[in-house]
Amino acid sequence: MNILVIGSGGREHALVWKIAQSPRVEKIYCAPGNGGIGEIASCIDIKADDIDGLLKFALSHDIDLTVVGPEQPLSLGIVDVFMKSNLRIFGPNQRAAILEGSKAFSKNFMQKYSIPTAKYKNYHDKNTALAEIDGFGYPLVIKADGLAAGKGVIIAEDRTEAEEAIKGMMADKKFGVAGSTIVVEEFLQGKEASILAFVDGNVAIPMVSAQDYKRALDDDKGLNTGGMGAVSPAFYYNDEIAERVKQDIINKTVEALKAENIEYRGVLYFGLMLTKDGPKLLEYNARFGDPETEVVLMRLETDLIDIMDAVIDEALENIDIKWSSDHAVCVVMTSGGYPESYDTGFEIKGFIPNGIDRVTFHAATAIKDGKTITAGGRVLVVSALGETTKEACEKAYEVVSKMDFKKAFYRKDIGIKKDSL
Ligand code: AMP
Ligand code: GLY
Repeated sequence: MNILVIGSGGREHALVWKIAQSPRVEKIYCAPGNGGIGEIASCIDIKADDIDGLLKFALSHDIDLTVVGPEQPLSLGIVDVFMKSNLRIFGPNQRAAILEGSKAFSKNFMQKYSIPTAKYKNYHDKNTALAEIDGFGYPLVIKADGLAAGKGVIIAEDRTEAEEAIKGMMADKKFGVAGSTIVVEEFLQGKEASILAFVDGNVAIPMVSAQDYKRALDDDKGLNTGGMGAVSPAFYYNDEIAERVKQDIINKTVEALKAENIEYRGVLYFGLMLTKDGPKLLEYNARFGDPETEVVLMRLETDLIDIMDAVIDEALENIDIKWSSDHAVCVVMTSGGYPESYDTGFEIKGFIPNGIDRVTFHAATAIKDGKTITAGGRVLVVSALGETTKEACEKAYEVVSKMDFKKAFYRKDIGIKKDSL
């Protein structure tokens, strides 16, 4: 089979790495890919949101299966376009991708089908929002409705911060049209967990749990980022919680999708808050999470292409998905200054060969004059497996300690459990 993976981050490197293990695969292309992905796939210079360019490439290169990493092409309808040309593609269609593309839509959907979530209200107009928000109490959470690259969520501690956030989104258009509508919701206290599930339109099969470290600095201080590390399984996620999530959130979602005539095939990501009143759903994403994928796929034992085929053919019930009982940890190495301003173009030194229990995924690297250089904020994602989270953590940090580039930064507390639920 010839495979095309769309995207250029650590998630896509992990997808390409796992797909390359399939005996069914002959050739992998990645658009646009990065310096590390280029070692195992042919990187092609087409951007992830250039739907026309990707379609032309797939048609002219006998692509048997296209796998979509990021959300933008899904929201732009790449799956619909490819299917019209009879191309097999893994991911939800445009109508289904709205579960991630519009937070106002997804909150209404959760409420309509009694899926546990934070109390909320959607606002299309700034003055109404400003007049009503005090009713939520503080802190409260303000979210831009549309895609905002993970930056469109603000936790406001008081009225002044809330006013500033609402004006920024609705009047100053900080997130463009994504902020024309906002969701204001109650602040939930608890521990977060991410559950990714394969969904074939009829059934959803959850993957092993994961937890992402979103803040830039140790002890969950600093700004929100695209993710500074992850662990799998998630701390605090036990069989009892898993069963409750399956019944109250995952299965209800599948039934709700059917009731709404939304055909969802692909990966559906459930961002959860484990509260003292039980698990609640913060958000859906219409794709694999990043960096959750870099830990979850380390534990997947089944051929990913077989699973993707089963999703597309609505045959998930016939496949037995196997996971390693090992724990996985990943640590993200960033360019100093990220998520604010930073410099790139520095040579990365000290790479060590990947093994079955240690893999360095590239999130933003390029090759220049035969050298691997930094090319973005999140540069490398070092993943490791161990019998315990502690062992996986030690292995990941050992690899991290050997690598270096100018102004490299990483959190020192990934995978270290500090408190109880
Ligand atoms: P979202 O994109 O909706 O998942 O929000 C991004 C992050 O904001 C989440 O991972 C949480 O850390 C935080 N967050 C979102 N909604 C809430 C909420 N209702 N209460 C507390 N934290 C939240
Ligand atoms: N790790 C969060 C996300 O992928 O959106």
